[in-house]
This record gives sequence, C-alpha cells and structure tokens, in this order.
Amino acid sequence: MLTLDHFSFAGQRALIRVDFNVPLTADFHVADGTRIDATLASLKKILQDGGMPVVMSHLGRPKGPSDALSLKHLIPYIEEKLQISVVFAPNCVGPEASALTAVCKPNTLILLENLRFHPEEEAGDAAFAQALAVHGDLYVNDAFGTAHRAHASTAVIAQFFPKKCCFGYVMAREIENVDKVLNGGQKPVTAVVGGSKVSSKIDILRQLMQRVDHLVIGGGMAFTFIRAQGGSIGNSLVEEDKLDLALSLLDEAKARGVQMHLPIDVVCADRFAADAATLTTPADLIPDGWIGLDVGPESLEAFGKVIDASATLLWNGPMGVFELEPFSHGTRILGERIAARTEEGKLFSLVGGGDSVAAVNQFGLASRVSYVSTGGGAMLEYLEGRVLPGIDAVLKAEA
Ligand code: 3PG
Ligand code: MG
Repeated sequence: MLTLDHFSFAGQRALIRVDFNVPLTADFHVADGTRIDATLASLKKILQDGGMPVVMSHLGRPKGPSDALSLKHLIPYIEEKLQISVVFAPNCVGPEASALTAVCKPNTLILLENLRFHPEEEAGDAAFAQALAVHGDLYVNDAFGTAHRAHASTAVIAQFFPKKCCFGYVMAREIENVDKVLNGGQKPVTAVVGGSKVSSKIDILRQLMQRVDHLVIGGGMAFTFIRAQGGSIGNSLVEEDKLDLALSLLDEAKARGVQMHLPIDVVCADRFAADAATLTTPADLIPDGWIGLDVGPESLEAFGKVIDASATLLWNGPMGVFELEPFSHGTRILGERIAARTEEGKLFSLVGGGDSVAAVNQFGLASRVSYVSTGGGAMLEYLEGRVLPGIDAVLKAEA
C-alpha cells in the first residue's frame, strides 16, 4: 500500500480527494472541523515537499450548484489551520480551474468547488473523472469517509494515474487501525455494538464474530435479542421479523466460542421524552407500556468487567438514547471506562461509525481513546468486510 511517504511532491501538483463533508453553522462557519483537521498532515507533507495540493471534495448532497453547499465556506478555516492563502476555483472542471492548476506554485493550495455540483461525480462518469485528472501530476486519495462511494473522484479517477497515486495519511491510518482490531489485535478482543437496529448491523455482527472473543450488545438492538429469548420488553424497539435471526446469531456466537453480553437491566421511560417518568428494571421484565432507553447499572457493571479484561476493543454504536440527558448515562459511563483503560495503557480502543463518534465527541472522550474514525458509512461497510471502491481503485492503479 503506497502512501504519501513513498513520494516526493517537489514541483508536483498533487490532486488530493479529501472528505471535507463537514457540518456548517447557519451563518456558514465550520461547526465541526474534525475531518478537515485529520487531513492537515497530508496537506502539510505535500506543501513541505514543495508540491502544490489541488484539493477536491464534496459537501452535502446538492442537486446542482448551491451557494449554501459551496466549498468557499471552508476557506477561512483552512487558511487559519494551514497559515497559507487558499486559491479557490469556482468550478471543479473547465478552463478557469485548469488555468489555475496549470502550473505548480510553491506554498499554494488550490481548492476546487464542490464536486457534487456536477451529477457526473456521483454517476462515476469517466469523462468527468478525466476532466478532473488534468489538475494533478499525482493523485492522492485521503477521503476515507467517502471511500464506500464508487464516484468519479473517489474511484474512477485512479485509472488516469497509473503508478502515480497513493493513499493520504487519513486513509492509511484508518486502514491500519481497523486492521489492528480485525486482524491480529492483542487478545482478548472485544466489540461493543449498539445502535437501534439489528437489521443494520447483521453483516457487522457476522464479521466480528469471526474475530472477537467478546461481543457486547447495547442500544435499541438489544431488545430484539431479549425478545427473541422470550423476554418481556414492553414498548421497546423491536424488529419482529428479525427474532429468528437474533437467535441464529446467538447460536453462531456459541458455536464459535464468542461470549455474548446482553444488558441485564435497563432504564425505561413511560414515553420517548427527556422529561418522561423513568424506572430501572431487569432487561427481560419491562412492564407493559414502558420503553427501554438505556442500559442500567448492573449492565454497566458487567460490561465494565468485560472492558477491563480486554486488550483490544472496537466500539460501534451507543448504548442508549444518549442525545437525551436522562438516557445518556450508559453510553457515557461505558465511554469513560474505555477511555480510562486506554489511558492506563491497558487497552487499544477504536471508535468508529456514525453515532458512537458523535457520542465520544459529546462526552469529550475523543482524545482519550486510541483512535476515532473519520468515516461513518465507510467505516460500517469496512467493518462488514466489504471492499471499499475508494481503496480498491488506488490499490489497482498504484501497482
Ligand atoms: C459522509 O459524511 O457520509 C460522507 O462524506 C459521504 O457522504 P454521502 O453519505 O453523502 O455519500
Ligand atoms: Mg453518509
């Protein structure tokens, strides 16, 4: 796998696909720059070599050009972080952009306008990819968050850079850290999986079962397992059509010698609201009309012991409705325990996939775990064991 370290960019234009799909405030400031920050090391390496980064990204899901989703809103943030002035190309393809990227100028970063203003981007159009390709002497893919999309700039374009493409540091780190968990992590290896639906995590659970010693299940999806085993779950979230599947997953775990840990007790509410009445009950004895919205203290005690006994841990998905304060306790306490063990040097911990990343950010735990993925959907698909088009295309073209 080739990375930026295998190239010197002196005098070269590095066309770099990043994932700057970041949330903006109502007045178009960067609300959370995590994804941009993650890419700074790659951009600095190119600049320090004497190369010129030509940066391309999507932002949101525009249907054609839209001022609200213009990448120009990111310019002040990037300029401040890199202490360099950004040259902006108001269209990612065409004569104006080509004139700007025609020569390599040192200490210059060119930012191309939102790729998705052109429908050809998501269509994976080869002619569009070729029109983008004129902007670089080398192609770098550092957009892990978009690696599951087979789009023009993430996958199709690589063929125009045979032996002249590589992964950026974000990509390299993501791949390296997930591999640390999935392939050859120090044992015992534990996966903590939460979130609302079993159906969205089936492939991940199947994949993880082949690799982990412990599987901790929390969040709404736990109730489908509890119901499948005959428990009373009141009005809690359940996928009635996945009860057999839940039982077969439990059987599969048993057959593989994977220890499954389901909630023992839960915090219930009489309705889905922050000011609802609450009650802590055994997880399989939830009274009629009550909804399980978080794991309870006994569950946390048991899950905590599993964390303490683990050397490697993957966390994907919250334990409860952490967005509502009264039901955030389980996710926060579990996160604190993971962070504490990591800080003691006892645990390698990776947090990946949408909601769990939001949770560690909300609880200020991001800097206290070993690694937080920049990919939501991309990380989920990677954990499912799927080939990500953005990774695959570079591997093929770099060889
Ligand atoms: C993301 O945030 O999920 C990535 O940037 C990909 O965006 P998409 O889901 O709109 O393809
Ligand atoms: Mg997405």
